[in-house]
Amino acid sequence: MATINDTEKADAPRIVLSGVGKWFDDLCVFQGVDLDVGKNEIISIVGPSGCGKTSLLRCLNGLLKPDQGQVLVDGEPVLGPRKSIAMVFQDFGLFPWKTVLGNVGYGLKVRGVPKSEIRDVAQHFIKLVGLEGREHAYPFQLSGGMQQRAGLARALTVNPNVLLMDEPFGSLDAQTRELLQFELLNIWSENPTTMVFVTHAIEEAVLLGDRVVVMMGRPSSIRTIVDVPLPRPRDPSTIASAEFQQIRHYVWELVMGVERGRSDGAAHVG
Ligand SMILES: Nc1ncnc2c1ncn2[C@@H]1O[C@H](COP(=O)(O)OP(=O)(O)OP(=O)(O)O)[C@@H](O)[C@H]1O
Ligand SMILES: [Mg+2]
Repeated sequence: MATINDTEKADAPRIVLSGVGKWFDDLCVFQGVDLDVGKNEIISIVGPSGCGKTSLLRCLNGLLKPDQGQVLVDGEPVLGPRKSIAMVFQDFGLFPWKTVLGNVGYGLKVRGVPKSEIRDVAQHFIKLVGLEGREHAYPFQLSGGMQQRAGLARALTVNPNVLLMDEPFGSLDAQTRELLQFELLNIWSENPTTMVFVTHAIEEAVLLGDRVVVMMGRPSSIRTIVDVPLPRPRDPSTIASAEFQQIRHYVWELVMGVERGRSDGAAHVG
């Protein structure tokens, strides 16, 4: 029987950032970042180049140590890379000397999973991201979209509780990007997990996120968090809806306010 404590635990946020700040020498990149992210929630982060989005993700996966505040995942401070946290990088991060199978299975290999099991799990995710038949191809033989699918498959193999994505579709053409956005949403709906998705594309941020975090300032901090109460599953008709366009425009005004150096650039939804 579930106790009150079990219930509280189930409702507890997956990620808790409190007062997080990061310096590089005397450059303060961001400070005072407070954010809770729920289990199975998708958070999009937007903000101008250099405001510290990648650095914040690196604090979340334990590759960087915050200089202020605390990063908790599942109630425990993140002090280094963790099994349950996976990251997909903008530049795909594939090993050029490994095949698709080798790259996708790499995360399991470093976790000491037996070879026969790696093959089965890797194969499952290769199929899931639509790369079946390309298992033995090397990255140079793949298009950008295929390389990004391989990067995504590699992150998914470890069955992460937290999936961090740093502009994963940033270098893809518009058509491939749109295709992968919907594929990612499908994969997520079949296997929901906590996702933090950094992007420069406002439309992508709104399409994917339950909330969009807007970072701004020097040093930066969270300027606003915009709720995206659009129903799921989201599909191409979502983008055509008036509500989507209204939220997209609202976030766009916020971000453009940043770029014009205004501090009062917010528009209002509704
Ligand atoms: N390892 C590092 N050493 C020193 N400075 C760094 C380091 N990593 C990042 N910075 C600096 O921190 C600031 C934030 O960088 P970061 O890459 O986090 O920004 P970003 O928001 O991801 O930018 P972009 O949108 O261009 O990817 C920049 O001024 C960058 O030069
Ligand atoms: Mg970055």
